[in-house]
Amino acid sequence: MERTILLLAAMVLVAYYVYIPLPDDIEEPWNLILEMTKLKIVVDLVSFAEFLGINHFMDSLQFLIRLQEVPATSDENVTVTETTFNSVPVRIYMPKRKSEMLRRGLFFIHGGGWCLGSAAFVKYDLLARQTADRLDAVVVSTNYGLAPKYHFPHQFEDVYSALRWFLQEDILETYGVDPRRVGVSGDSAGGNLAAAVTQQLIQDPDVKTKLKVQALVYPALQALDMKLPSHQEGSYFPFLPTSLLIRLWSEYFTTDRTLEKAMLLNQHVPMEFSHLFQFVNWSSLLPERYKTDHFYENPTPGSNELAKKYPGFLDVKACPLLANDNILSHLPLTYITTCQYDVLRDDGLMYVTRLQNVGVHVTHHHFEDGFHGAFTLHGFKIADKIQNQYLSWLMKNL
Ligand SMILES: *[C@@H]1O[C@H](CO)[C@@H](O)[C@H](O)[C@H]1NC(C)=O
Ligand SMILES: *[C@@H]1O[C@H](CO)[C@@H](O)[C@H](O)[C@H]1NC(C)=O
Repeated sequence: MERTILLLAAMVLVAYYVYIPLPDDIEEPWNLILEMTKLKIVVDLVSFAEFLGINHFMDSLQFLIRLQEVPATSDENVTVTETTFNSVPVRIYMPKRKSEMLRRGLFFIHGGGWCLGSAAFVKYDLLARQTADRLDAVVVSTNYGLAPKYHFPHQFEDVYSALRWFLQEDILETYGVDPRRVGVSGDSAGGNLAAAVTQQLIQDPDVKTKLKVQALVYPALQALDMKLPSHQEGSYFPFLPTSLLIRLWSEYFTTDRTLEKAMLLNQHVPMEFSHLFQFVNWSSLLPERYKTDHFYENPTPGSNELAKKYPGFLDVKACPLLANDNILSHLPLTYITTCQYDVLRDDGLMYVTRLQNVGVHVTHHHFEDGFHGAFTLHGFKIADKIQNQYLSWLMKNL
């Protein structure tokens, strides 16, 4: 009897962890399900630890990521070193081969929802190495303070001050970088920070070096409307379901979970800021095919109190989609990757529309079989596809 119950319980548990509804057109589904199952187990365990009051959810996840960090080790093609730019720790990747000319410079910002990750995380280290080698570029992969220890605007400010340091003429010269060929890039929360610092730079009279390009890989660009079609479709999307996205967004601003609750109901923006919704209005900014089966509703106004306590989610430095057209029109050449099965898909699509509307040159690659996290899922075909497009665009345009 007991055995039967145990066996049944085990079967239910296995079914729960392995049953992950995946769209048909995703390649290598079984390997993906394995990766997702691992993540699901980890997320459940760290949620349970948080529930018991043992450790903050993000601190546990970051601890597990730290176990997958690698030291700054040079290889046969790339010299890897660590230093600080304006007291922000960065990792620098310099190609070893001789160069007659000054090189391209790429300032890279890792993802991880403003809470997780680092330049040393094995996936980002590998990507930066390959980027430096294939583009013959100097890659600066920056770190920044993470939530829950640090909240907005700390992440933005760390990244911005490291970037400003790098853009100084004498620093670029030290690293053999051509000041006319410097770009910024990042994925996910790193794409958010890349878009935000690029906007900030065009309004900064003290910085003489201009960025040539920005490359944003499935960036997060707004926290105003949490009921976009991709949020509504994304409850089961690989690696970043809507609930986790909202946890990460709210954690960027505060550890007080009342903000997360309000965001889940899409009732966090008070009436007096409702004019901002025009900048994230998916009904007018998304291409037709993404709107089918969805009906636009004006979001319900939230409390003034919440917005007073945590004004970050209304700030353009956290939500680059809130920039006005005049700012956007000064942005450099832009590359944007979006993925079909990604909760952040519509953030990227709306930015493409807004930039194109003001005449910014945008190259947009949309991956029909892509999902969040695919860019750094080394070993999967989809990762090669996204990385190859991104690197060949940089090769041509940076
Ligand atoms: C270094 O470059 C060579 C030639 O492109 C390549 O075959 C080799 O795999 C590279 N080594 C590493 C560690 O990436
Ligand atoms: C959003 O756009 C639709 C039309 O595309 C419009 O009817 C609606 O009033 C807009 N809402 C806001 C808040 O801008």
